[in-house]
Amino acid sequence: MCGIIGVVGRISVTERLIESLKRLEYRGYDSAGVAALEDEHLVRRRAPGKIKALEAALAADPIRATVGIGHTRWATHGAPNERNAHPQRAGRVAVVHNGIIENFQELKAELLTDGRTFESDTDTEVVAHLIDREIVSGKAPLEAFKAALDRLEGAYALGVLVEGHEALIMGARRGSPLVVGYGDGEMFLGSDALAVGPFTTRIAYLEEGDYVAITHEGASIYSAKGEAVFRAVHQVSASAALVEKGAYRHFMEKEIHEQPDACQHTLSAYLDPVAGKARAPSHPDLGPLDFKDVTRVQILACGTAYLAALTAKYHFEQYADLPMDVEIASEFRYRTPALSPGTLCLAVSQSGETADTLAALRWCKARGFATAALVNAHESTMAREADRMWPTHAGPEIGVASTKAFTAQVCALTALAIAAAAQRGKLTPEAEAHLVRVLLEAPRTIAKAMAVESEVRALAFDLSKARDILYLGRGPSYPLALEGALKLKEISYIHAEGYAAGELKHGPIALVDEATPVIIIAPSDSHFEKTMSNLEEVRARGAPVILIADPAGVARAPHGVKHLTAPACDPLIAPLAFAVSIQMLAYHVAVQKGTDVDQPRNLAKSVTVE
Ligand code: AGP
Repeated sequence: MCGIIGVVGRISVTERLIESLKRLEYRGYDSAGVAALEDEHLVRRRAPGKIKALEAALAADPIRATVGIGHTRWATHGAPNERNAHPQRAGRVAVVHNGIIENFQELKAELLTDGRTFESDTDTEVVAHLIDREIVSGKAPLEAFKAALDRLEGAYALGVLVEGHEALIMGARRGSPLVVGYGDGEMFLGSDALAVGPFTTRIAYLEEGDYVAITHEGASIYSAKGEAVFRAVHQVSASAALVEKGAYRHFMEKEIHEQPDACQHTLSAYLDPVAGKARAPSHPDLGPLDFKDVTRVQILACGTAYLAALTAKYHFEQYADLPMDVEIASEFRYRTPALSPGTLCLAVSQSGETADTLAALRWCKARGFATAALVNAHESTMAREADRMWPTHAGPEIGVASTKAFTAQVCALTALAIAAAAQRGKLTPEAEAHLVRVLLEAPRTIAKAMAVESEVRALAFDLSKARDILYLGRGPSYPLALEGALKLKEISYIHAEGYAAGELKHGPIALVDEATPVIIIAPSDSHFEKTMSNLEEVRARGAPVILIADPAGVARAPHGVKHLTAPACDPLIAPLAFAVSIQMLAYHVAVQKGTDVDQPRNLAKSVTVE
């Protein structure tokens, strides 16, 4: 939820910290700060709000230094103001932190008893005091850092500066990601590849419990037990490290338009167009998964990733006759799930770092269930902890509202459903080849779906005035109704709810009146007629309706109904084609409202705290 950067460099550090923090703003943006060693003295600049406020503070009162740490915050403890902004300081120590120290109250009480005073309401400040107390007692910085780490409970990625040690930054990770960047005579620490991308593409991923000291000469990495360890240095793709908006106004707009490529690239990992076959990517050691050995699939996911899986559930059960339970990870991990033997536990996550999904995955793995992670970040914690990593290839998704990751997830899951059906003997080779051909049409169909943008622009202004909006769908369009509502509410702040259209008469229709627009998602599938009945029911009560349908559906709809036209396509890929309409609707309504599309209030791209 927060972004961390550390630089042990040889040129002015503040511009580099700012550049990196701008790449990290998608992780949280309610305050920001830097700390550096200027003439051996520890100095800080912090500001509430976006990075540009911090940039102004530095312009007004520059720092001359080559080593420093920076942080952009999504508040967990303490209001988003300067006092609670990171870096937090105690004595000679400055700390930046991503995560939650769960025993900070107990530690704070102990430190107060020791006569220490606190300036903030944050959990992070106790870490600075613990390290400083150990240094005051005579320990060297790294020894003091390890002693402090041993007292912490909860999740953290940390960056630490110590006054008097101007060429040293220390870091540690438990439950929140942290990478080490290798430069030429310079070293870096960051929350992810994006953070250090402007400086290097040579990166080592710290493992759970690791802590590290970086100097100009390199990195010394230690395991939780204090043993020196080696972590492989990877060469990440330049695109993974450097992301720009290009000609688009927002990352979300760019990422909506990148979906044909994202889906094409993702499908190439699952479909063999020549053989007409679908397959799960094979594991280098375990080999390919055989779905004949799987009795049930348990999905673990949050938010849009959960809705992508809910869409795929229909395909797994229809084509593979394989039961799929799709559950919100934060619910799964706090009940006592009764999983049957042979269950495959599949985490679905764009970031691969979502705390609730990761915790649920660990719960399943600890009980011996087969696990897999469908992730867009192929080196993420979930990717490394699951038995198998199945990739989406959407490329870095910066906009907080997930778009290309969603359609890439639906593509991968649909391909897996076809693979499962074939392996379980539910599809003849001809039927499999047919479904593969249909799925291979998805990228082109999504590209055609972009044409809806002109219709969306015409409707967005009126919709932006609504206080409440309902989304309705049946079958695989039901999760799409939920996703449409989530997209709209998270970037336009308009209250929106998605419902199964068949559920309307069981209560929600009481919400319907002239002031409540209803968005109805209705591909030309077996649900179309019943969904048209629902359309008439809400029209009869005065609701302004927008129908999302393909041309045949638009032609069959009642006269005068406003509509968005999705391309005609096989029902198997309709969720992908219709997703573009709901994404563009949310985007253009938010643009009309003038909200911060890429960094909506109160949100962060990756929810790495529970
Ligand atoms: C989607 O638009 C939201 N930003 C959010 O629901 C997101 O999908 C959820 O937090 C899961 O993130 P993940 O895919 O990285 O696990």
